[in-house]
Amino acid sequence: MVETLFSVDISKAYDDWSLNYDDAQNPTRDADAIVTRAMLQGYSFALGLEWGCGTGKNTSFYSSICDSLTASDFSKGMLDKAKEKTYPGKVEFKEGDILAPWDFASASLDFVACNLILEHVPRLHPVFQETVRVLGRGGMFFISEYHPFRQYLGKSARFEKAGETIHVSAYVHHLSEYWQSVKENGFEIIDLQETFDADVEKKPPRLLSLLLRKK
Ligand SMILES: C[S@@+](CC[C@H](N)C(=O)[O-])C[C@H]1O[C@@H](n2cnc3c(N)ncnc32)[C@H](O)[C@@H]1O
Repeated sequence: MVETLFSVDISKAYDDWSLNYDDAQNPTRDADAIVTRAMLQGYSFALGLEWGCGTGKNTSFYSSICDSLTASDFSKGMLDKAKEKTYPGKVEFKEGDILAPWDFASASLDFVACNLILEHVPRLHPVFQETVRVLGRGGMFFISEYHPFRQYLGKSARFEKAGETIHVSAYVHHLSEYWQSVKENGFEIIDLQETFDADVEKKPPRLLSLLLRKK
């Protein structure tokens, strides 16, 4: 029988997942790569910060649109995988927790990205607060996350380990929570997209992706 386990030690879970994150079937990971490149096509930035870079799936793209990129994650296993790869631009990898105070001066960056990380943080507001602090005026914040409508069905990040399905602790973020965080932190929405699976009808969208600008 396949057992379902829940992991509340999120960084440890991702250390384990790092062993097959790139190779296992994962439509959410793949859809996120596509929508990220589509929504940010044509943009370029000086200094960027990617949170939850994982094994570097989007780091490669972000390093091609930023003169200099810091890619951060709290899983050493994921970071080690990311560091094995080569990148088209300048990238510095840093171990760090998005929930701790960010080691960047106010208004020092012009791009921040979060892909498939925010389901693991209890509240969006603190992340938005730090983002608005480190971005200069006109700076962009890109978010691409598991859609809340899927979360309502009890779905969340999960992986297989030795015949068991491990569910990583996750928090639901309603559309209204995103909107409140956008509004209260002085962002404007430049683009909002929902990604649906091409071959499945009447299923909720897989991803919610937002491109925001600091006013
Ligand atoms: C589903 S993976 C996504 C990785 C990559 N962004 C991608 O799209 O493939 C989530 C990543 O977020 C990281 N993460 C989760 N919570 C975090 C936190 N509080 N601080 C830093 N990284 C975190 C995990 O370690 C993991 O690498």
